[in-house]
Amino acid sequence: MEFAEEIHQEIDDWIARYPVVTEEEVATEDVSGMSSLASLATRVRVELSTGSGVARVAPPTNPEFDDNFLRRYYLAFGVLLGDPLGNYGRLYEVKDRGGDYTKTAIPVSQTRAATGLHTDSSAINVLPDMVGLICIRPAIKGGSSRITCAIRAYLKLQQFESQNLALLERPHLRDIVTPGADQSLRLRNQFPVFSAHPDRGLICRYMRFWIEKGYEKAEVAIPEGLPEALDTLDRYLEEEDSVANFRLQRGEMLWVDNCTTLHDRTEYEDNPEAPRLLLRQWVKLPD
Ligand SMILES: [Fe+2]
Repeated sequence: MEFAEEIHQEIDDWIARYPVVTEEEVATEDVSGMSSLASLATRVRVELSTGSGVARVAPPTNPEFDDNFLRRYYLAFGVLLGDPLGNYGRLYEVKDRGGDYTKTAIPVSQTRAATGLHTDSSAINVLPDMVGLICIRPAIKGGSSRITCAIRAYLKLQQFESQNLALLERPHLRDIVTPGADQSLRLRNQFPVFSAHPDRGLICRYMRFWIEKGYEKAEVAIPEGLPEALDTLDRYLEEEDSVANFRLQRGEMLWVDNCTTLHDRTEYEDNPEAPRLLLRQWVKLPD
């Protein structure tokens, strides 16, 4: 999707009126006058919930934008799209913080490792409908986005691997890394990879590593056949021509339906002077 020229003025006017805002407090009434941005948000919401499940929005057309402009544009966009979640703060900085998610229970978004195709949030009670990224600074090397359709993999499993699918439709433990989730509920933090959601129909919630870690930390044996079922799912997800691979440029946004579209990013290398920085938002669909 294109960035409409008029959006520049809407964001500039907002910045002129309120040079400083508290991100957590920005609400619908603060951005209600931005009709061009609102119409872009509606198009993205419709594409995610009733179309392909994914939208990319081109960077601002006037190249004279700075980081603050991008933050305010992205913040306003999230509020117009739905109800932003605050588990990680409103605009969460996806950047390498030097950790290793395989050794400590930290989100992969804080590392520069490849993640594997996944949906966001490992906590049963936290399910963002839409996940968005805006690129402030790309990496010098790597850090491409990859996305694929979970429904496509589901249909293949249904057709050729019904026993494996049955296992994936049973609840499975997940390690809890989502901030704000109640750690004492570890054994209750289990849900299926594929399930029928009352409002949304078929949904997928998947990140292989957090399933394997969930069983390991709870000291519960992995159910028989589950590793093979996950191998089969991974194979379908990664099939040739089923994954779109692209690199976000500065100012570009990517939004996915977090219940039907899996995302991933490739490993990257940073320029220490200007490290890769993306901002992420988790947004619930409006009621
Ligand atoms: Fe993610």
